[in-house]
Amino acid sequence: MATDIESVLKEQRVFPPPDEFAASAHVKSLAEYQRIYKLSVDDPEAFWAGIARELDWFKPWDKVLEWEPPNAKWFVGAECNISYNCLDRHLSTWRRNKAAIIWEGEPGDIRVYTYQMLHREVSRFAAGLKRLGVQKGDRVALYMPMVPELAISLLACARLGATHSVVFGGFSSDALRDRINDAQAKVVITADGGFRRGAPFPLKEAVDKALTETPSIEKVVVVKRAGNDVVMKPGRDVWWDDAIKDVSADCPAEHLDAEHPLFILYTSGTTGKPKGVVHSTGGYMAHTYLTSKWVFDLKDTDTFWCTADVGWVTGHSYIVYGPLANGATILMYEGVPNHPEPDRFWDIIERHQVSVLYTAPTAIRTFTRWGDEWPNKHDLSSLRLLGTVGEPINPEAWMWYRDVIGGNRCPIVDTWWQTETGGIMLTPLPGATPTKPGSATLPFPGVVPEIVTHDGKPVGDNEGGYLIIKKPWPGMLRTIYNDHERFKEQYWSQIPGCYFTGDGARRDEDGYYWVMGRIDDVVNVSGHRLSTMEIESALVSHKQVTEAAVVGRPDEVKGQAISAFVTCAAGTKPDDAFKQELRKHVAKEIGAFAKPDDIRFTDSLPKTRSGKIMRRLLRDLAAGKDTVGDTTTLEDYSVLAKLREDEE
Ligand code: WTA
Repeated sequence: MATDIESVLKEQRVFPPPDEFAASAHVKSLAEYQRIYKLSVDDPEAFWAGIARELDWFKPWDKVLEWEPPNAKWFVGAECNISYNCLDRHLSTWRRNKAAIIWEGEPGDIRVYTYQMLHREVSRFAAGLKRLGVQKGDRVALYMPMVPELAISLLACARLGATHSVVFGGFSSDALRDRINDAQAKVVITADGGFRRGAPFPLKEAVDKALTETPSIEKVVVVKRAGNDVVMKPGRDVWWDDAIKDVSADCPAEHLDAEHPLFILYTSGTTGKPKGVVHSTGGYMAHTYLTSKWVFDLKDTDTFWCTADVGWVTGHSYIVYGPLANGATILMYEGVPNHPEPDRFWDIIERHQVSVLYTAPTAIRTFTRWGDEWPNKHDLSSLRLLGTVGEPINPEAWMWYRDVIGGNRCPIVDTWWQTETGGIMLTPLPGATPTKPGSATLPFPGVVPEIVTHDGKPVGDNEGGYLIIKKPWPGMLRTIYNDHERFKEQYWSQIPGCYFTGDGARRDEDGYYWVMGRIDDVVNVSGHRLSTMEIESALVSHKQVTEAAVVGRPDEVKGQAISAFVTCAAGTKPDDAFKQELRKHVAKEIGAFAKPDDIRFTDSLPKTRSGKIMRRLLRDLAAGKDTVGDTTTLEDYSVLAKLREDEE
């Protein structure tokens, strides 16, 4: 084995695309995919230029790609606007009166926006933002529930050329504050609250708290959604309805350079400080447009439901930008899958006749636990295609998804990608690629992956290694906000000239990719990527904690669970009450989804002689496995023995 990465999964089942599906798909056979793939890597510039020409540009490019590793510019010299492509472009066609967004609130309220209506609302809100002082080049932070105003806000910012930074509504006020300050955002868009599990959850409150320490913020726009009490600060806070009052609906899309920064999205890296991943406009637009079209095989008759929150990249790329650039009809849902009953998703699919469903393995595993009776109560025959994203899907969950949800009729697209890649990278094309449960199959056209050892040498078939991308692609991140050095160091230094994904993978004898998950100090809990360092620094920020190590351990439902090993200050009582206090503390620092699942107190942590915590040992311990492999660099073996004893 060339690396420490071992793949134990061996899956033999293969499911070819159903003939009927293939016949009407955008890409109809494996041979067609292979032909396109070859063209796309032989001449990527011609390939992507051909795709980009399907979209509208104010000014054509002088050059498709300028590549000075690790800096890429796509569609150099071109001018465009993604909001224009998602909206205005469709108004001169029959799609003007087609549903763009079908939205359902958790309490059951429904709103539908046609392209014409959405265009009008986006234009008005963009004009409103302008009146509040937002200009091209400014940063705007969004901290919102899953309401249509969230999609409208993204498109309005994009229309003006203001870079948006969406902060998932589950983050704490401290996390929001740090992200606002890092981006130096000028305006926050939020809501009084949203609905979750049948009750309003407050958002504005957290904004108020964050804003006591964010000098860059000038205005706050507040959507009235949940009706919970909020305090409006005069001169700073404006209700959404007042922000758009008496503005003209005529707010043309700015002509932006193709490389203009469209958004920043903070994600977890291997250090405690969140990284502001920066995406640009033209390349991201081409990438999300094409992947939406080919991976989800989008047709005008489809109702496409991506269940992600817009607070994550999946929502950016496959609720808002990609599908709307295609003129598709998207479904957007505000709440949780088990309100009022565990069949809410299936009920939504039946009532709205959803045809393409894109969700996460953690959700699928949860549904399997809730039982087949919930989906079985509903007619799911409108579905024709299923997708997953966010983490490796175990073959059993895949088979359940295929059988119980897809009626053994719908192809499944297991899509591998990252916040940094902007759009889908490894995936089946549903009419072309035979699928194997648990594999993201083959690279999307234009994507050149490889699996390598530490020093960049390709590994053999079925050998584990590091997944890298060897060529630039249009949707790739351009930098880390205000930290280009970190961008270089994090993604481009391990294997010079290649993008380092941080994931381990193997490729089988058919060239299929099997992504095994992170090889760095990042855990993937319910599809949320968290840095163990971030959780550690949250723990250590508690005054009674001296040291903490956080690792992931396998969890049947969540994919991974969070285990924390904590050393306390003298005089602290390491009891259950203190565990609860620490969990609460992490929730406050980061958000409830980052709370450790288990906490163990210890007098010391296993370290190397140079003082590095040996996480591998802790990972084994957390997973209940015997420690294997090299412990010779361990400074004090008794620490490990002690930890093991404690467990027994
Ligand atoms: C993991 C989400 C296996 C992977 C779009 C990656 C996956 C991280 C898959 C990115 C998949 C995502 N199979 N693993 N189909 N999709 N991952 O940035 O570890 O939130 O690096 O982007 O999720 O998570 P992120």
